Amino acid sequence: YSNAEIRSLIEKMTIEEKVGQMAQITLDVITKGKNEMESDEPLALDPALVKKAIVDYKIGSVLNTANNRARTRDKWHEVIGQLQQVAKEDTRLKIPILYGIDAIHGTTYTAGATFFPQQIGLAATWNPEIAKTAAEITAYETRASGIPWNFSPVLDLGRDPRFPRIWESFGEDPYLASVFGEQMVMGYEGNNSSTAIDQFHVSSCLKHFLGYSVPTNGKDRTPAIISNIQLEELHIPPFQKAIDAGASSIMINSGIINGVPVHANKELITDLLKERLNFKGLVVTDWKDIENLHERDKVAATMKEAVMMSVNAGVDMSMIPYNFDFCKHLVELVNEGKVEMSRIDDAVERILKLKNKLGLFDVSLFAKAEYPKFASTEFQEKAFQASLESITLLKNENAILPLSKSKKVLVAGPNSNSMRTLNGGWSYSWQGEKVEEFAQGYNTILEAITNQLGADNVIHKEGVSYDHEGKYWEEKDIDINAAVKASQTVDVIILCLGENSYTEKPGDLHDLEISQNQIDLAKALAKTGKPMVLVLNEGRPRLIGEIEPHMSAIIQTYLPGNYGADALATLLYGEANFSGKLPYTYPLYSNSLVNYNYKPSESQNKMDGVYDYESDFAIQYPFGYGLSYTTFEYSDLRTDKNDYDLNDEIKVSIKVTNTGNRVGKEVVQLYTSDLYASITPDTKRLKRFKKVEIKPGESQRVEFILKAEDLAFVNQNLKWTVEQGDFEILISDQSKTINLSKTEIITN
Ligand code: IFM
Repeated sequence: YSNAEIRSLIEKMTIEEKVGQMAQITLDVITKGKNEMESDEPLALDPALVKKAIVDYKIGSVLNTANNRARTRDKWHEVIGQLQQVAKEDTRLKIPILYGIDAIHGTTYTAGATFFPQQIGLAATWNPEIAKTAAEITAYETRASGIPWNFSPVLDLGRDPRFPRIWESFGEDPYLASVFGEQMVMGYEGNNSSTAIDQFHVSSCLKHFLGYSVPTNGKDRTPAIISNIQLEELHIPPFQKAIDAGASSIMINSGIINGVPVHANKELITDLLKERLNFKGLVVTDWKDIENLHERDKVAATMKEAVMMSVNAGVDMSMIPYNFDFCKHLVELVNEGKVEMSRIDDAVERILKLKNKLGLFDVSLFAKAEYPKFASTEFQEKAFQASLESITLLKNENAILPLSKSKKVLVAGPNSNSMRTLNGGWSYSWQGEKVEEFAQGYNTILEAITNQLGADNVIHKEGVSYDHEGKYWEEKDIDINAAVKASQTVDVIILCLGENSYTEKPGDLHDLEISQNQIDLAKALAKTGKPMVLVLNEGRPRLIGEIEPHMSAIIQTYLPGNYGADALATLLYGEANFSGKLPYTYPLYSNSLVNYNYKPSESQNKMDGVYDYESDFAIQYPFGYGLSYTTFEYSDLRTDKNDYDLNDEIKVSIKVTNTGNRVGKEVVQLYTSDLYASITPDTKRLKRFKKVEIKPGESQRVEFILKAEDLAFVNQNLKWTVEQGDFEILISDQSKTINLSKTEIITN
């Protein structure tokens, strides 16, 4: 269809048909038997319920979240095929269904698909190509499962480790998140996404606009207070970049910012997103969030008022997901003149344009045979490579790593033998439960290490186990003595600690410290005097300050996916080199949660040089940190000039030498620091990075081009501004001061 044809289709639509397009139900509403969360029965649609939804209510979109069953591609094709058949044959206008899913680290609802590290791990590769490839493969396998719409990527910043979904983000920095977000969008949507998304690509969905990840108390869907300067400098840029890259849909933040629930905030959804950021795609709510304006957030006295507020604020599609009243209320609101027909037409146009762009009007379901590369070795190799580049070495005292294969090991800890913990939430199911059942054929850490050493050289005792049937943080079978006893005959202990899988509210925490049982286990094992390698497998940085001194080596795996354990074992035994770097600041104390770009006053531990305070910027590991089996030396930082005008490009280069004896990849990170500004400048800000591979003894000159606007900040009048004066360019331990001659406002 051309745009004119879409508009003429809209002219033919009744108000009920238009409103139906704006509603999205969950699959649960139209399946046979018990609700998805509890059911183990094979999935089957209930034809009467399907007819009610698609023919009677004219529903235009379906999603599913909480299924506990891996679907085969055959099952997906059966289900989606039936839905499309009803939509295209039994409705007046034959408009196809738009099916959406959270395939956030691979097509994680389809049996056999390729699972990548979760987003935090992708960011830890500091290699945006990897993120693009992960998105391309996920798009391919999602489309191969019959699904054209993916609720990914997350562009909320992971700035607060208390927030349960930090692992779904690209970490704490807006530039890093912008670069990775842009690549993921391009990978998902393909190269021609401004006009069409072909059968091997999907519509991406940027989440969760805006400011979702920084609630004041750290818990999911609780209110956030965010200054306008922070919104502009931190939270908007990743979304802006992804919109410019062609993202075709966006999901709204479930929470409240500065007192206003975002789902009712016209300034954010219409004025900012649709007008200023020029977003032309589809805006969808999060789960039940229009109802929440009434039931939870109490800004609407009735459900009908909630519908009015949200649609008038600019929402195009409501993830209802159970309550068809949305449709009834919206029809009434239009008839009563409380919602303009032009607003409805705008929403429907955005929805139909997306269906059209995806080619769904022509072919609503492509044949399975068109996707021969599904789950291919080529794809799996890419996922393994992604895990390999993400896993981050944080400590390696006396070069205890790589381990020699002749050393006998005890593999201990609750994360030592679990596919669930390697994958995290949104894997087969919402909280990642049931992964073990479906992840057959992949290796846990124990299995991957055993593959390296042979069974005779590996002893396994968890010491502490997760209760996979209970809440994600519950632990059971605490038998620390058994683990200590088992350690007597080994040379090295590989202790796998961290978290069980979770997402959203169930992942909220009272305490950021790693669990007491795990601390007790680590301390008891430390008493044996055997060298210990701590392997962290966690969605967010849990505090390890108490046990860190006992560890000879520490490795962060994040949530590395189905190939994560193989990648870990490859690194542990030196068959590959570490190159991951932390995409967040690893905190040391629960009341010292800081980000790397802190303000100078966040790091003062002395008053008048006399009293000591615990006010220091005290952290476990800095943002951007990660060791290698080789060493790199930085020298000869150069800029092409010292004084710049606003229109100049700033050419920066530095020599990086591999001074060790192994080939290695290094992430060269360029930060800038505004020395004085009209509002207190951040200590430093990441502006460019490049991952380079250098052979031992060799050097590379790494070059960057900065623009003057890269030195800008948001001033008191909320304008991006570059102020005249001195700036420092910082790369590793090298720095150079440059001067900018004139102050200029960049945005108006
Ligand atoms: O996409 C998700 C979102 O991130 C959290 N709530 C449910 C949505 C759909 O599953």
